Amino acid sequence: MKILVTGGTGYIGSHTIIDLIENGYEVVCADNGINSDTSSLTAIMKITGVDVPYFHVDLCDLNASEAIFKTHPDITGIVHFAALKSVGESVEKPILYFRNNLESLINILDLSIKYETKAFIFSSSCTVYGDVDQSPVDENTPWQEAASPYGRTKQIGEQMVTDSLRNTRVKSILLRYFNPAGAHPSALLGESPINPPQNLVPIITETAIGKRKKMTVYGNDYPTRDGSCIRDYIHVCDLAKAHTLALKYILEEKQKQQNEIFNVGIGNGLSVLEVISAFESLTGQKLNYDIGDRRPGDVMAIYSNHHKATEKLGWIPEMNVADIMKTAWAWELKRTGN
Ligand code: WQD
Repeated sequence: MKILVTGGTGYIGSHTIIDLIENGYEVVCADNGINSDTSSLTAIMKITGVDVPYFHVDLCDLNASEAIFKTHPDITGIVHFAALKSVGESVEKPILYFRNNLESLINILDLSIKYETKAFIFSSSCTVYGDVDQSPVDENTPWQEAASPYGRTKQIGEQMVTDSLRNTRVKSILLRYFNPAGAHPSALLGESPINPPQNLVPIITETAIGKRKKMTVYGNDYPTRDGSCIRDYIHVCDLAKAHTLALKYILEEKQKQQNEIFNVGIGNGLSVLEVISAFESLTGQKLNYDIGDRRPGDVMAIYSNHHKATEKLGWIPEMNVADIMKTAWAWELKRTGN
């Protein structure tokens, strides 16, 4: 079974390619290199022994994207990661986010229908829920107003997938990620964006190793247990597994509905300050941070109810915040040549 992974040189995409290969799938990777490079394919080769075919293509270019399917007309499933994903950056550059995330999605949906793939897995996000007033959220939790243009692209994206594939033979699954973090246990692969990371965990490890003098906690005046924001941190390898299980669920014809939605988080929340102290206690590294203003686009607290993914996909997260910190720190040490 041949699977196209778009955004495949990126953080979650590259870890998912490893899990797909380890579960017997043949993979093709497409990426425009806007925020990742082929070093992740080199790592995949070291970890799995597989040299994954790579298309350096911008999915906003329909003709260039169609070349993938002309070369590989037997693509059975698509896992669509390709998108910009920084909440903070999307507030500053909404047009970039709407153009990049939605035009690429329109094209890949168009090609998925034209080439009659069987399965379409969409990389969605807990940001579709907006600033919820309580957690855990389940798949039926009503959406609030998206708190950022990034979250808005995921709200619109989900509806585009559902509407476009409704009357086709392409079955779809929307995976709503919570906060992906951590690195591959081999320390050969991890979060390595070309642009400076905006996410909490890589900023913690970059501060600890000295790449950054100091980091800022964006607000400690929220009405949470310690005043800082709460999120559901899920190890990237657990998240990768969810994609393989979602594909299997469709390709083994277990999915009866045209479209299914699953939350993918570990089901509990940690505050920013708790994540920082988890890192400090696990590594013995004291972090240099100060408390700053709230970040526009942030929601106060959100974490998942993932029982539907467990019941229907058989997905059970195995790693916790200690595993996230251990693997993230090992990756930071390795990529900094320690
Ligand atoms: C987490 C918390 C920040 C950096 C992520 C992904 C997004 C989506 C949802 C999948 C917030 C605080 C951060 C810093 C800080 N996932 N923080 N200082 O915004 O929840 O979004 O999950 O689609 O793609 O990016 O993650 O790591 O940016 O922020 O205090 O230097 O950490 O304010 O409360 P976020 P994040």
